[in-house]
Amino acid sequence: MNPDAMPPDPTTPAPAPAPAPAPAPAQGLSLSPIVAGAWRMGGWGLDLPGRLRWIEQCLDLGITSFDHADIYGDYTVETLFGEALARQPGLRRRMQIVTKCAIRLVSQRRPDHAAKSYDTSAGHVTASVEASLRALHTDHIDLLLIHRPDSLMDPQELADTFGRLRRDGKVSHFGVSNHSPSQLALLHRRLPLATHQFELSPLRTQALGDGTLDQCLGLGLRPMIWSPLAGGELFTSTHERAQRVAALLQALGREHGVSPATMAYAWLLRHPARPLPITGSQRMDRLREAWAALSLRMSAEDWYRVLEAGTGQPVP
Ligand SMILES: NC(=O)c1ccc[n+]([C@@H]2O[C@H](COP(=O)([O-])OP(=O)(O)OC[C@H]3O[C@@H](n4cnc5c(N)ncnc54)[C@H](OP(=O)(O)O)[C@@H]3O)[C@@H](O)[C@H]2O)c1
Repeated sequence: MNPDAMPPDPTTPAPAPAPAPAPAPAQGLSLSPIVAGAWRMGGWGLDLPGRLRWIEQCLDLGITSFDHADIYGDYTVETLFGEALARQPGLRRRMQIVTKCAIRLVSQRRPDHAAKSYDTSAGHVTASVEASLRALHTDHIDLLLIHRPDSLMDPQELADTFGRLRRDGKVSHFGVSNHSPSQLALLHRRLPLATHQFELSPLRTQALGDGTLDQCLGLGLRPMIWSPLAGGELFTSTHERAQRVAALLQALGREHGVSPATMAYAWLLRHPARPLPITGSQRMDRLREAWAALSLRMSAEDWYRVLEAGTGQPVP
């Protein structure tokens, strides 16, 4: 009997539909391999010439991408940076500006925010982008990130908002920060995202095991890494784990003739997802330590030794 002629067996499950092809990664965004973070700029006490000098020195070093958020410095850092761009508009052409939105802080500068909340509605995201453009003295943002997941996010509304901002020439690329893999996927299947920004360091290794880095590899997204030195804790904390990692990085640094901080960056850069670490320092010597890691390749054995020191757990 020709099996093709048989009536379908109701107990046989229908073949699974072919999976939809994954959207291609967003094309055309090129960030520097080390990104300069501006979060702490409000505390640096730099006057306008000092901020200009910092930006120019970053650019001269090769760090051309700057990471912002609307809320940094209680909604002041974009303005501090934008004042420098207003003074020297030619600098804008030499850099990529990353900023974030969707967190609503209670602040004297935002009197309409009655409670801390997240907001990815078209109205809030569009208004936030307009405010960032004004503060930064620029006509476009290279990369806009949703700062933290909004439990009330309507992914189609947000993808439509992103599409409008792109068509209007206000934002070139989009991404998310601190999202779960499933939250990122909700958006990515509607509008290809360019990156995921999250925390990773030998002291904060969650992204290695919860699917976050696997997803970046699978989708071909280069992740941006915040607090690459655990906010400085790697070298300032008296906690046993931090001291163990610092001692190991020191020893490895001696072997390679570089500083322990350079080894900490080399540990991040060793991951095949090709992460882009975001520095947090105003000091050029510390930014140079980050840059120096680009010419190092840590061995897999050393990578696992650092992991073990950071987690306090033997490699199973
Ligand atoms: N998406 C997000 O949710 C999110 C969250 C946090 C941060 N970020 C981004 O990530 C960027 C970096 O984060 P981060 O500032 O926490 O980075 P980090 O590099 O881990 O920490 C920077 C801090 O560590 C100190 N430090 C640097 N090198 C040191 C060393 N060798 N010894 C001792 N202390 C050292 C710095 O002090 P000095 O200034 O004295 O060097 C600074 O206070 C931020 O600027 C922001 O752009 C994003």
